[in-house]
Amino acid sequence: PVLQPDGEPTIDPEDGKPVQRYTVTQRVGTANILPRLATPVLGYNGIFPGPTISVDQGTKVVLRVRNQLPAAHPQYGHVLGTSTHLHGAASLPQYDGYANDVSNPGFYKDYHYENSQNARTIWYHDHAVHHTSLNAYSGLLAQYHLHDPLERELLPQGEFDVALTVSDAMFARDGSLGYDDNDHSGLWGDVILVNGRPWPVMKVKKRIYRFRILNACISRSFRPRLSTGDPVTVVATDGGLMPKAQQVASWRHAGAERYEILIDFRKYRTGQRIELRNLSNRNNVDYDYTNRIMAFDVVDDGFDKTDPTWNTLPTVLDPENEVMALKRSQSTRKRRMRLKHDDVTNIWTLDESTWADIIASGFQQVFADVDLGAVEIWEFENKSGGWFHPLHIHLVDFQILSRNGRAPFAYELGPKDVVYVGEGEKVEVLMRFGPHRGRYMIHCHNLPHEDHDMMTQFRVGKKAF
Ligand code: C2O
Ligand code: CU
Repeated sequence: PVLQPDGEPTIDPEDGKPVQRYTVTQRVGTANILPRLATPVLGYNGIFPGPTISVDQGTKVVLRVRNQLPAAHPQYGHVLGTSTHLHGAASLPQYDGYANDVSNPGFYKDYHYENSQNARTIWYHDHAVHHTSLNAYSGLLAQYHLHDPLERELLPQGEFDVALTVSDAMFARDGSLGYDDNDHSGLWGDVILVNGRPWPVMKVKKRIYRFRILNACISRSFRPRLSTGDPVTVVATDGGLMPKAQQVASWRHAGAERYEILIDFRKYRTGQRIELRNLSNRNNVDYDYTNRIMAFDVVDDGFDKTDPTWNTLPTVLDPENEVMALKRSQSTRKRRMRLKHDDVTNIWTLDESTWADIIASGFQQVFADVDLGAVEIWEFENKSGGWFHPLHIHLVDFQILSRNGRAPFAYELGPKDVVYVGEGEKVEVLMRFGPHRGRYMIHCHNLPHEDHDMMTQFRVGKKAF
């Protein structure tokens, strides 16, 4: 469901922009995922996934997150202080869901979002220190759609603009969610859920659809592919529209990454079933049915053919995208970060440091002090053995410059905020730091890795801090 705002928008007296208020309540709820068995979840408004927020660029949002969770997690026992991160938004540091900035049960926090970025598929999820994995797995996650005029003109809207939140889970006999993080390596569920339903089937009309695919798995990465072998058209990455659409038959899709794709159902027969399958990626644990995600059944119902997006596969999308227009030569500094595992302590590290080190320093230690507006190249090298790490940098969108010295994959040629760093890979990303000053997190988005303890921070515009 789309979240309804709290009444009519007001006007910000300082800049004249509209301000829309929303409220979500974090509470215990029940999901109907399995036949005859109820699954207890923690959800925004008690549902899993939570309600989608949909706003236009330029409308400010104040999101009140009320924590009405029990003092301790009913299954896992940890304290339920929460911190809400809007993943993919350039938020001020005090509204960015900083891990230790938790609101305890009985309290609320108002998060102010500017929504001044270009259109994109982003998402909000819990980011509580050392419990992000359990809390997100329990259900505290939802999509957030930022619209703008360019995206509205080029891509399908309304019922043909479909959010797909993909996750995996394992279930106990009583229907509750099972959690086993394999000694902090990752959680690998044997059931694939899309929008909280196992392997769903969706009826589609004979036209072009837009799918906003969010991999909300705690650990698993996918390699989606249509059963027909036909290519899909990738139109947007984490940070919005790509300069040019890319046709690909499959793509590697790690946790927290968003890919918006168009699928053209015009050429299929009425009654034909097209499956979205999952080819295996390295370093995941696969089960009998993790090779499929969902399916589409083609129907020949009518629809409005005056909407040009029904039969148009755009090629040029956002040729002037600021992030993709950055050049290697603009960079003033290159930093390197090594991704490792300490076999003695069973802790994951970023450049030999952990979030425990950040806490111990009174939150003063940083991986980098970056000037506001600086353009830099950061290189991530996976030295951890047989694992992949989806690395997420808060605040900024970046361009992937290279993978192992070669060009990035076609589907990665758009603005990103998570980069897949596969086993033994070395990846360079290029970005401009801003628009805010402050301390921001950088971490692995395999959430058991993040919690144990593969997270550090950087600081932008040191002088003010
Ligand atoms: Cu989606 Cu810091 O996370
Ligand atoms: Cu990792």
